[in-house]
Amino acid sequence: MAKAAQADTLGDWLGSHPTLNRFDLEIALCQVLDCSRAFLLSHPERQLTANELEQLHRWSQQLYNHVPLAYLCGEQEFWGLTLKVDERVLVPRPDTETLVEQALVRLEQMAPQASLARLASRRALSVLDLGTGSGAIALAIASERADADVHACDLSPDSLAVAEANSRKLKLAVTFHHSDWFNNIQQRYDLIVANPPYIDPLDPHLATLGAEPRMALVSRDRGLWDLGHIAAQGESYLHPGGYLLLEHGFDQGPAVRDLLVNNGFEGVSSCRDLGGNERVTWGQKKDRAESNHE
Ligand SMILES: C[S@@+](CC[C@H](N)C(=O)[O-])C[C@H]1O[C@@H](n2cnc3c(N)ncnc32)[C@H](O)[C@@H]1O
Repeated sequence: MAKAAQADTLGDWLGSHPTLNRFDLEIALCQVLDCSRAFLLSHPERQLTANELEQLHRWSQQLYNHVPLAYLCGEQEFWGLTLKVDERVLVPRPDTETLVEQALVRLEQMAPQASLARLASRRALSVLDLGTGSGAIALAIASERADADVHACDLSPDSLAVAEANSRKLKLAVTFHHSDWFNNIQQRYDLIVANPPYIDPLDPHLATLGAEPRMALVSRDRGLWDLGHIAAQGESYLHPGGYLLLEHGFDQGPAVRDLLVNNGFEGVSSCRDLGGNERVTWGQKKDRAESNHE
């Protein structure tokens, strides 16, 4: 446990926590002082009041205990949206924006070549976000595709409460389902996205993630059980020609491609996140029109 900060100025306080992330410290100061980062950098001599020091001390102790800054601030930016987050949900990660980008590319591709069945029924492109957490992925897609019918599910009622609150706050329409993966899903979709738990229960990094819900992080079979379950069931919940897109660990790309290929998906491929790691893998359900001609 770290000692209480003895700093009196904000410059001293910033310098007194060398092992904490500098960006987190600056944002903590901005929140507590209600000021901009530019102010922090230009006024290191600003004296901290006793109340400010007390709150900063409380927050720094939580940061030392690996509580994410987003829980302390109560919000997190994702895809340009400000999402309310707390300990009931995983903090959405920048890497997951790669999954949103790829989902939007697939939706764009599908829009003009609508299936005959969809054109005949005049239904919108439909999307399901499995394991929605704070609602990050579903809400990002809804913010970009007002024409899509976006659904999301989670097994955790607590997550759903946070996601529904974010949907109301952002005025973005998403239909939520309480469901153990596909168990309570009643329809087919054009696109299914999932960022399921994929961390190996024995992964030493879990020690620093203890503040976030374990059910959002850990999956048995070296982190692959939930990815495998979704890959096995996904095809039945997709329209012909629909896509399944999965986020996964940086070293799980080959295993996830195998899962999709072995479950009959076509055009299986992966892409890298901004850090250069394979992060998202997708496959397409065979189009009925094509398979009829085989
Ligand atoms: C890695 S988090 C992703 C949260 C959010 N989609 C994001 O990207 O920030 C995984 C989510 O899956 C949910 N989850 C875990 N097991 C589930 C299950 N069997 N059925 C549905 N959701 C589940 C967790 O509650 C959690 O919200």
